[in-house]
Amino acid sequence: MKNAKKIHIETYGCQMNFSDSEIVASILKENNYDFTDDIKIADIIFVNTCSIRENAEERVRKRLQYFKSLRKKKPGLVIGLLGCMADRTKTALMDEEQLLDLIAGPDAYRHLPQLLEQVGTGHRAIDTILSLDETYADITPVRLDSNGVSAFISIMRGCENYCSYCVVPSTRGQERSRDAASIVGETRNLFETGYREVTLLGQNVNSYSWNTANGLVNFANLLAQVATVNPLMRIRFATSHPKDISDELLQTIARYPNLCKAIHLPVQSGSNHMLDKMNRKYTREDYQNRIQAIRQILPGCAITTDIIAGFCDETEEDHVETLSLMRWVGYEAAYMFKYSERPQTLAADTLIDNVPEDVKDRRLKEIIDLQQELSLASNRKDIGKTFEILIEGKSKRSDNQYFGRNTHNKVAVFSKTLAVPGDYVSVTITGATSATLLGEIAPN
Ligand code: 5AD
Ligand code: SF4
Repeated sequence: MKNAKKIHIETYGCQMNFSDSEIVASILKENNYDFTDDIKIADIIFVNTCSIRENAEERVRKRLQYFKSLRKKKPGLVIGLLGCMADRTKTALMDEEQLLDLIAGPDAYRHLPQLLEQVGTGHRAIDTILSLDETYADITPVRLDSNGVSAFISIMRGCENYCSYCVVPSTRGQERSRDAASIVGETRNLFETGYREVTLLGQNVNSYSWNTANGLVNFANLLAQVATVNPLMRIRFATSHPKDISDELLQTIARYPNLCKAIHLPVQSGSNHMLDKMNRKYTREDYQNRIQAIRQILPGCAITTDIIAGFCDETEEDHVETLSLMRWVGYEAAYMFKYSERPQTLAADTLIDNVPEDVKDRRLKEIIDLQQELSLASNRKDIGKTFEILIEGKSKRSDNQYFGRNTHNKVAVFSKTLAVPGDYVSVTITGATSATLLGEIAPN
């Protein structure tokens, strides 16, 4: 579009946020805005923000200072803040720093065209109202930064689990599921345009629930519907809450080869004392029971997790229990964090962030070191095995190599063949690091 205003959008935080940026892009393209990767030529800069840990917010604040310097050189440059920091920071950032022209929370993206018009008339615009029913179900996302092979589909929004450390219920509001038919339709569309892998996203996908004239669609039913779109379309999902991952769901995953055998099941801590304070609603034993169910129903399934080190009142014994549970499960991979107190959470209101910083650092390091060992052991076990790999693109290290993933979500690197991204190839694993499998195309 000629003379259309150009928007540059930067995204921080989780996959859900990246998926939201694609919804934002779609809404604004419909309204005749253009997008650019080049921040220097942008008329409007949006930053889609995350509040999960303090350092996520700090990064955004630094970035905003840089945008401010750009605006000095280009008066009229519009700066907007989207996402999870919107509600929490609106007064501070708008009034004190005089920096933002627009703030829109996660449920306000449909209003962006009107908000931008308001900014165009010289007014600041804010909409941080959270909704009970917004799911953007009818919006076909514009795929940003896409490899053309794998895409994310948001299937629900919000969260009502109230883990005591977590800011999400306050930034993203009540849980609501998206129309199942629209999810299946989006999957079909993606398949028809060449995509071969989708990841279904929600804060707690296991509580997905959609009412239809023919009855209730739960997450297992939804997965079965999405799996039948095409056997060549791989399906992944995140995130599962250990308290509601059912045998029915595991049996559904077992039934369809294209439902990937990889489950992300955040444990957060191996200590019942901590799990109780975190309000996770399961015990170490409950969690172990679910791992046993996965091992039994889905032998060989990869299991990954999230862990928080140094939560309120965490003792050395609690920490050791986390390490021992990690060994017991033998996770393929983990996201590991130091506890960061967030305003407007149960923990901030009722607990004391009393583990000293150096202790948090040391415990986190022990967790990371152990995970490195477990990941390497898991990858070494794959040497000699042959996997079906979906090619995603050229490897970062070499133009002569491709990279792709197996069903376990492990990255494999191998010499290029005549196959192209989006094709499946059989790769025999010949070597491994803790992060990557190395392999060769298997002879037919
Ligand atoms: N401090 C540290 N880590 C956190 N997470 C969520 N809230 C916090 C916090 N306040 C981690 C959890 C969650 C992941 C997305 O981020 O492990 O599963
Ligand atoms: Fe995602 Fe949570 Fe960060 Fe929001 S606060 S962007 S939901 S990780």
